[in-house]
Amino acid sequence: MNITAITADGYKNLSGVDIVPDRKLNVFCGKNAQGKTNLIEAVWLCTGCKSFRLARDRNFIGFDKEKASVSVSFENSVREQNISFEIKKGSLRDKDITLNGVKVPLMSRLFGSLKCVVFTPDDLSLMKGSPENRRSFIDLSASQLKPSFVSALNKYNGLLAQRNAAVKSISFGMSSADDLEIWDRQLAVTGAYISLIRYTYCSDLNSYTEKLYSTITGGKEDMKLGYISTIYDSLEGRTDYNGELADIYYDRLKRSRGDDIRMGYTTVGIHRDDMSTEINGLDVREFGSQGQQRSAAVVMKTAQAKIIEEETGEAPVMLLDDVLSELDDSRKSFILGNISDIQVFITCCDKSFISGIDMPGKIFCVDNGQITEE
Ligand SMILES: Nc1ncnc2c1ncn2[C@@H]1O[C@H](COP(=O)(O)OP(=O)(O)O)[C@@H](O)[C@H]1O
Ligand SMILES: [Mg+2]
Repeated sequence: MNITAITADGYKNLSGVDIVPDRKLNVFCGKNAQGKTNLIEAVWLCTGCKSFRLARDRNFIGFDKEKASVSVSFENSVREQNISFEIKKGSLRDKDITLNGVKVPLMSRLFGSLKCVVFTPDDLSLMKGSPENRRSFIDLSASQLKPSFVSALNKYNGLLAQRNAAVKSISFGMSSADDLEIWDRQLAVTGAYISLIRYTYCSDLNSYTEKLYSTITGGKEDMKLGYISTIYDSLEGRTDYNGELADIYYDRLKRSRGDDIRMGYTTVGIHRDDMSTEINGLDVREFGSQGQQRSAAVVMKTAQAKIIEEETGEAPVMLLDDVLSELDDSRKSFILGNISDIQVFITCCDKSFISGIDMPGKIFCVDNGQITEE
């Protein structure tokens, strides 16, 4: 997958951006607060995902602008495509979003067309951070391979909210525990399916990260990723999410009804699951050094890109926002070496950084929201 052109105007501080990226390496250099991350974010929004920075739609429009417009053209081995969106002040709900010239109602409908992997300094603490971040990482990565997975997740969240409302109402004595039956049956089927997809993704990821981590440490350390389910002891070799797996899920929910009513929410299920990372047999969250966590993050992002390429036949575009400056030379060359055949966007503050990279490509200067090729 290759981004062939980007235009952006009025998106935060970006103004009159009109660039043709290199098919391989693109480095965006500029001082702080010039618009480097804004550009990466604008491209990322075209993937149909929410911003990796917490942001509201209205904040996307430049302070002194009436509208924000972004357009990204890209091609895969089959065809050229284009995604554009325009957000106007005063009619935020009514965005003008198009996919190949056809209007689509929501940004999320863009999901699945342009595939990118974004890597930011926040990802370096993915291993140590909250389980929620790791669940999001798995869900997003698995959805990139299987866009329909998003609807299963949405369905689960809807059902969970209703079960939690029922749990609360029972704990206030306003209804009976039998009222949970209808939600437990439905949650069990969707939850079993999600557990299986997540487990499978973690297993696939592990088969890549195992090798990559061994390489990055020169064979000195080994890393193991696993899915931690609050429902199942093991999901190995299972496929029957509609059958026995759903039954086990249901039984587990039923058994936790008492606890749930006491606590006032649903205490087990995929919304409480996690991913484990062990290095040399020790949990990274507790025992990992900062260096090990960074290597683990680098390896996971590299693996995420490799899996997309392997499964879809199309390499994603890699967006490395400010992250390489956080890594030492060996981790830096590891990641670049492993993604050398795909299109990469790198942002950095310091030009001296580029001298260490032995790859042809384009360099762009980002200055006060304007981007020029050097
Ligand atoms: N809605 C907005 N309108 C105009 N400028 C904005 C808006 N939101 C953020 N900015 C500006 O964008 C700049 C930060 O851009 P960013 O891409 O994060 O910088 P960096 O180059 O350091 O990655 C800041 O100067 C900020 O004031
Ligand atoms: Mg930045």
